[in-house]
Amino acid sequence: MKLITVKNYTDMSKTAADIIVEHIHKHPQLVLGLATGSTPIETYKCLIEDHKQNQTSYQEVSTFNLDEYIGLDPLNQNSYHYYMKSNFFNYINIPEQKTHIPNGEAIDVEKECEDYEQQIANHDGIDLQLLGLGSNGHIGFNEPGTSFKTATHVVNLTNDTRQANARFFDNMEIVPKKAITMGIDTIMKSKEILLLVSGENKSKALARLLHGQIDPTFPASVLNQHSQVTIISDYDALQNT
Ligand code: GLP
Repeated sequence: MKLITVKNYTDMSKTAADIIVEHIHKHPQLVLGLATGSTPIETYKCLIEDHKQNQTSYQEVSTFNLDEYIGLDPLNQNSYHYYMKSNFFNYINIPEQKTHIPNGEAIDVEKECEDYEQQIANHDGIDLQLLGLGSNGHIGFNEPGTSFKTATHVVNLTNDTRQANARFFDNMEIVPKKAITMGIDTIMKSKEILLLVSGENKSKALARLLHGQIDPTFPASVLNQHSQVTIISDYDALQNT
């Protein structure tokens, strides 16, 4: 894994956006895997700014998001559908049919998982996957203990993850208990992975990723087995390493 060390969250976001833009310029039909959470918000802002300034075009780019809560309407402000539109898609020229996010309202969620996986395969897989890191080591919503062989699947969210994400909801009760997530194998099939890690609250997880064992109890550790991973991390996140 290649580690790029940056001063702070702002620099991490700029660096990540520069890498993504470079990929789009080289390969306008890029299949881009996207993440949600607090970590990539500023990266999306930088990409929007670049789109305004330099007219980087997303006309031919396809995107696949990592995950979505089960049971939230896409118009619900806490759904990842809403997040992606309000933080990114509404401000770039990407055709809506080229953006893919698991449908957390599907009647048959198992079939939705299979279809999502198939759609990724139909695009010849993801070229560049953006990832955040959960403080318990989760990637997407692949919680500790998830087999490294999983494809897109339904997960029961752990209390840790629900609590970590409760800040976005009015109260803990309404934080969904289930989600659809790309599996670890889906993520590992991406040709390149860009992992963003910022802040002191991620420093233990980052230390374990860099120095710990490769083990399903810490899902992100699987990234050590991928040949094209770049981690962009700020000083605060590196303080335990
Ligand atoms: C969430 C998301 C992940 C995200 C992670 C870290 O639960 N499902 O895709 O990367 O947790 O979130 P944050 O960036 O807010 O710390």
